[in-house]
Amino acid sequence: MAIRNIVKIGDDVLRKVCRSQLNFDEKLHQTLDDMRDTMYKAEGVGLAAPQVGILRRYCIVDVGDGLIELINPVIEKQSGKQTGQEGCLSIPERSAEVTRPLKVTVRAQDRYGKTFTVEGEGLKARAFCHEIDHLDGILYIDKAE
Ligand code: NI
Repeated sequence: MAIRNIVKIGDDVLRKVCRSQLNFDEKLHQTLDDMRDTMYKAEGVGLAAPQVGILRRYCIVDVGDGLIELINPVIEKQSGKQTGQEGCLSIPERSAEVTRPLKVTVRAQDRYGKTFTVEGEGLKARAFCHEIDHLDGILYIDKAE
């Protein structure tokens, strides 16, 4: 396990559209483990692969109720609206108000390639949307009010 360097705003890697993750191998598992350690050390609630320089579609989220690994995630359903403060580990010491869905259902694969769905409401829905945006090169500041 290792702490990875978190890419900061201004780096082009944060603006790319990531490609699907096709291999559910040891290399993926190692990267996910490193991302977990990196996110917890930075006291973040989410981290996406491009933030550690990897242009693949996966991210992790933990809003305080356990770690969720999302490989090739897709927002299947969304409802409601919430407006609140949002920050990003790639944009240090800044935050802004962003409007997001109140509830989302995400379909993704786990680290072994098994498909599952997970629901999120409130902060968890916000984190899912924020991290999945990263996979398309979108940052919260693009949506900030
Ligand atoms: Ni972020």
